[in-house]
Amino acid sequence: MGIMSDNVTVTEPTAAAEPFRILFLGDVVGEPGRKGVATLLPLLKEELKVDFAIVNGENAAGGRGITPKIAIGLMRAGAAVITTGDHIWDQKEILPFMQDEPRLLRPINYPSNAPGQGTVVLETKRGKVGVINLQGRVFMKEGMENPFTAITEAVTEMRKETPIIFVDFHAEATSEKVAMGWHLDGLVSAVVGTHTHVPTADERVLPKGTAYQSDAGMCGPMESVIGSEIQPVLERFHTAMPARFGIGKGAVRLNGVLVTVDPTTGKAMAIERVARTWHE
Ligand SMILES: [Fe+2]
Ligand SMILES: [Fe+2]
Repeated sequence: MGIMSDNVTVTEPTAAAEPFRILFLGDVVGEPGRKGVATLLPLLKEELKVDFAIVNGENAAGGRGITPKIAIGLMRAGAAVITTGDHIWDQKEILPFMQDEPRLLRPINYPSNAPGQGTVVLETKRGKVGVINLQGRVFMKEGMENPFTAITEAVTEMRKETPIIFVDFHAEATSEKVAMGWHLDGLVSAVVGTHTHVPTADERVLPKGTAYQSDAGMCGPMESVIGSEIQPVLERFHTAMPARFGIGKGAVRLNGVLVTVDPTTGKAMAIERVARTWHE
C-alpha cells in the first residue's frame, strides 16, 4: 500500500520474509535420550516456532546405531530428517531401511558403494530445505573420502535446488570442524558439529552468513560419561582392559541449536544454543 503525500507516492518497505527456524538436536543416546526427545521435541517445536527439526540419531539404539523402529519413533516425535555418523552401521537391520528412507542420512563421504545417502532435500510449507551429513577424518576411523572435497560437490549440487542448507559435521577434532565452518561460510545456512557429545560455547554467525557451532552436544543421560554408564568407563581408564558400557541414567539433558535463516537468501541471521533437562 502506498502513502500519498502531495503528488509523491511513497512506497512502504515490504516486510522482510518471516525467518525460517531450524532446530537441530545432537546425538540421541539410548532409551533415556529417545524418551527425552519424544517428550520434549514436540514442545520445543511449539515454543521455538520451529519450521524444520533435525536430530542426530547415531547412538539412539543403546548407544550403538539406530533401528528402523527407532528411526520411525524419532520422526513421529517431529524430526524431519535424522542424521548419523560413525555408528550408523552398528545395527544391521538399518541397511535395507536406509535404502528406502531418504530422511535417514549417513555421512556423505563414505565410499560411494556404501548403502544409503548423505543428502536430502525436502519440500516444506515454506520452501525447500537441504540437509547434508558429513564425517571428519582427524582422530576418526580410516576409509572416509575427503570431507572438504565431498561437501564442495554436494553443496554445489544442492544450491541449484535451495539456498537453505544445514550441514551436520560429525567429527572429533575441533580444528577440522572450525576449518569446515570457514570452508562453507556463505555457501550453506549452518555447519553444526556432532560426535563428541559435549556442547561447545563457540556458536556464532560467520562473516558471510553461515551459522556455526563446533559441537551441539548430546541428548542423553546426565549421570554418564558422554552417555555411557560411569563405573565401567572408570574401570577401563584404571586398567586399560576392554569393557562393554551400558547407558547411563538419571535426568536427561537435551542439547541442540536453533538457527534462524533468511529464507530468500539462505543466510543465517542467528544461532543460539538450546538446552533442556527432562526427568522421567
Ligand atoms: Fe555420537
Ligand atoms: Fe559418533
